[in-house]
Amino acid sequence: DQAPVVTIDGPSGSGKGTIAKLVADRLGFALLDSGALYRLTALAALNAGADLDDAEKVARIAANLDIRFAIADAEVSAILDGVDVSQDIRMERVSMAASKVAAIPEVRDALLQRQRDFRTAPGLVADGRDMGTTVFPDAPVKIFLTASAEERARRRHAQLQGRGVSVSLRDLLEDIRARDDRDMNRATSPLAPAEDAVVLDSTEIDIQGVLQRVLDLVQQRI
Ligand code: C5P
Repeated sequence: DQAPVVTIDGPSGSGKGTIAKLVADRLGFALLDSGALYRLTALAALNAGADLDDAEKVARIAANLDIRFAIADAEVSAILDGVDVSQDIRMERVSMAASKVAAIPEVRDALLQRQRDFRTAPGLVADGRDMGTTVFPDAPVKIFLTASAEERARRRHAQLQGRGVSVSLRDLLEDIRARDDRDMNRATSPLAPAEDAVVLDSTEIDIQGVLQRVLDLVQQRI
């Protein structure tokens, strides 16, 4: 029997990363931040000077990634080739590149098994775009978390300002729209709720409210 999976999909800035962490913590489940795998692929490709349109080359990079996730002080860091790149993979340049490499079917194939390997007892919380549709279609609990693009841009803006990074809200909104557009319109595993997903909008419900809804579903179904 396979360990249960809670999938949390949605666009960037919907709060799914935060919710996934809280749920995993509450349940004592493992956590898969699948976006980090695409970000690591993108960073490795940029570092290698690869042309991001070269599907074969980028897929080879994805298949051969030497990565590790380390946990310290409840924070997960991403280690690429032995180097902590947790900060680097969050840069706007890498975010854009990640959404580009994520549109390559061969890259998605190369990362599929790696993602499924995170499934382990007593359970897994998986956050991404296609966790409920493609990677864990048999998950007993599937959440699709959304929020308006404006709200997501505002959150990202506040987050960056908190870190002393100054960017314009308009540029962020444009970036978010471009990424949404690419994520929703790609041919392979586009961003969309699974048929059996529960759709929640974090513009209307706060983090605690969303967390409670997810925990209720887990209680009913796992
Ligand atoms: O979630 P995060 O913003 O870290 O994801 C980075 C990029 O990786 C997204 O813009 C998306 O294009 C891609 N991604 C994906 N499928 C996933 C997770 C992320 O295509 N399951």
